[in-house]
Amino acid sequence: MASTGEWFETVAEAQRRARRRLPKSVYMALVAGSERGITTEDNVAAFSELGFRPRIADLPQERSQTTTVMGQEIAFPVVISPTGVQAVDPEGEVAVARAAAGAGTAMGLSSFASRAVEDVAAANDKLFFQMYWVGTRERILQRAERAKAAGAKGLIVTLDWSFANGRDWGSPMIPEKLDLKAMLRFAPEGVLRPRYLAGWLKHGKLPDLTTPNLAAPGEPAPTFFGAYGEWMGTPLPTWEDIAWLRQEWGGPFAVKGITHPDDARRAVDAGATAISVSNHGGNNLDGTPAAIRLLPAVVDAVGDQVEVLMDGGIRRGGDVVKALALGARAVLIGRAYLWGMAANGEAGVANVLQILRQGIDSALLGLGRSSIHELSRDDLVIPPDFTRSWKG
Ligand SMILES: Cc1cc2nc3c(=O)[nH]c(=O)nc-3n(C[C@H](O)[C@H](O)[C@H](O)COP(=O)(O)O)c2cc1C
Repeated sequence: MASTGEWFETVAEAQRRARRRLPKSVYMALVAGSERGITTEDNVAAFSELGFRPRIADLPQERSQTTTVMGQEIAFPVVISPTGVQAVDPEGEVAVARAAAGAGTAMGLSSFASRAVEDVAAANDKLFFQMYWVGTRERILQRAERAKAAGAKGLIVTLDWSFANGRDWGSPMIPEKLDLKAMLRFAPEGVLRPRYLAGWLKHGKLPDLTTPNLAAPGEPAPTFFGAYGEWMGTPLPTWEDIAWLRQEWGGPFAVKGITHPDDARRAVDAGATAISVSNHGGNNLDGTPAAIRLLPAVVDAVGDQVEVLMDGGIRRGGDVVKALALGARAVLIGRAYLWGMAANGEAGVANVLQILRQGIDSALLGLGRSSIHELSRDDLVIPPDFTRSWKG
């Protein structure tokens, strides 16, 4: 566990520490976003527009947060969203998996992750494996089957990616691999962040920037860019492809990246168990409204047929409660846990999860609700046109 001095009380503080500790290029890779950053900003800002309607007496002594997502029982309605980041911490996704398991919740593992699905599943058996549509049907199935054999309980297919890569604030330079040339180029950043560098050297390695879960059987893991190239060269999937994969997989199946209610219906038709209303944390098509604005129309369209999750902009427990009041079953978090991991490794991820859980509890108490399942739109003050006239 962290010493008391390492403890932080908000996600904003975790982000400040992450900024101080990480080399600039790694920090910027987590900030991410695309184009002008309109969507990334709105994802967070929109939560501030929603108000609460608190109560002050006859409040519930006990508050319950347990629920299930894709068949997995979780202690509170926050799940780790899959993120493909390579260089934040030497333990990487295994540390995240341990922290999530310790907190009693589930994790999505990116196929672009730095640690093998077998190692991550050993640390948290409530694991969902996330895939993009990369390569042939045969290769896609091989990867899914490997994840299943490792113990993954569900499959998440992320569909919202349009290969936009420009950012007005600049993209970090990411080397193809950390060879001598790249190390010399990045050396000044390492020198400026000695603690980060020491963490890696203690593990006897530097980030290797490979994607072990995308390796073909018997082949070495491709580099991040090698895998990205394969993805760019893959014909784009149809709903028929998605229905095929869902059929082959057989178990709980989620489609991540839904914004349009019609796509939500198509995902249901394809047999999805869950969908996540998401704009990829603002990393996809800039100008898409905040995910929380798009949630109500999707809930109205398919909320009784599929588990509706959402992700994007969650930074505190109150945000989670707002999303649940608007109809989400649970939320996924991305940057919040990445800041925690950058600030203090596994303990930092646990710290973030605890902040969210306590924040949910406080909001339930303030609203006079004894369970997350009692939350409804009546708990919120929703300004006119919060949803930007987004229609089902
Ligand atoms: C650095 C970074 C890498 C990501 N990589 C993936 C990925 O590999 N697969 C995926 O489905 N989503 C990925 N996402 C999107 C997240 O799963 C999630 O949708 C998003 O971060 C939610 O927004 P938030 O960061 O505001 O919580 C990534 C997001 C970030 C910030």
